[in-house]
Amino acid sequence: MLCGNDIAKAKALLEAGDVVAVPTETVYGLAANALNPKAISKIFSVKGRPDFDPLIVHAATKEAAFAWAKDIPDEALALAEAFWPGPLTLVLPKIKAIPAEVTSGLETVGLRVPNHTILKRLLETLDFPLAAPSANPFGYISPTTAEHVADQLRDRIPYILDGGSCTIGLESTIVGFVSGSAVILRPGHIKKEDIGQVLGYIPERSESPGERPAAPGMLSSHYSPKTPMEWMEGKHLPKRKEGALYFSNRPQGMYGSYEILSEQGSLMEAARRLYGCLRNLDKLGLQKIWVEIIPEGIGNAEALKDRLNRAVGKAPFTP
Ligand code: TXA
Ligand code: MG
Repeated sequence: MLCGNDIAKAKALLEAGDVVAVPTETVYGLAANALNPKAISKIFSVKGRPDFDPLIVHAATKEAAFAWAKDIPDEALALAEAFWPGPLTLVLPKIKAIPAEVTSGLETVGLRVPNHTILKRLLETLDFPLAAPSANPFGYISPTTAEHVADQLRDRIPYILDGGSCTIGLESTIVGFVSGSAVILRPGHIKKEDIGQVLGYIPERSESPGERPAAPGMLSSHYSPKTPMEWMEGKHLPKRKEGALYFSNRPQGMYGSYEILSEQGSLMEAARRLYGCLRNLDKLGLQKIWVEIIPEGIGNAEALKDRLNRAVGKAPFTP
């Protein structure tokens, strides 16, 4: 069986240096022993991920996570205290034991304590941390169910630990430290205002375009369906063979190929459903997916807008 909830099987595969897809509260990850360079190289080959894109290392507890970092700023300790376990990744100076393959040669490592019961149980039984990027082919939409992972990686991985649908649905907020101050490398469920509450100042967003951005999840081409996507001016009816992604309601007369992110107009629900909706539309063989612009005044939609911008901003993705 490719999918199941057999923690002992996942553990045995990981101990043997294999990869296993695992659930988290954000998106499914493609995990391997973070201390084993050969296992790490499997992650890169299964995903078709360029070697300049470093992986996040996941641990069961704060203490276990911080064991892989040094010179940890007090602000990182405070953020971990406030948000771990949870959808926050802290980029910190690494210790030697973390192989260069994990961090793409960087002297820093991204650390996260995920908040998912099954993954937590798995991490507790292992005597190594798990490096895990999202479990999708590089550049494609991240998976938020075990079926999403199976759809794309079934021939390339031995096991998917099924933990149900991800409750958050967007990747973690990534925070790094530049000259002692926190900066946001990737927006996520934990908002800059939430971080501001803990630190006493709102961190800047680091924009680092180019060949080797600070967080390659920030590449303008990322999180994309294969179908070309375009922003919708107002709310129009797509033509035949076109589809639409609406935020909370569809125009009258619209039937057929569309998805609504949240009929309640809830940002949380929209985030949780975004990748599944994009996948559903992408399966229909449409010529184009029109995307409604997220309305103003519904709260802080930075992470949702960020992922939509990246999905729309890309030329069609060829796996
Ligand atoms: O929610 C998440 O973060 C999910 C789950 C599986 O934990 N993981 C995830 O991983 O989104 P991935 O590999 O798809 O995105 C991780 C991002 C990449 O853009 C990577 O560049 C950045 O984290 N990253 C990792 N280590 C870094 C480092 N040392 N410095 C800067 N960015 C780093
Ligand atoms: Mg990813």
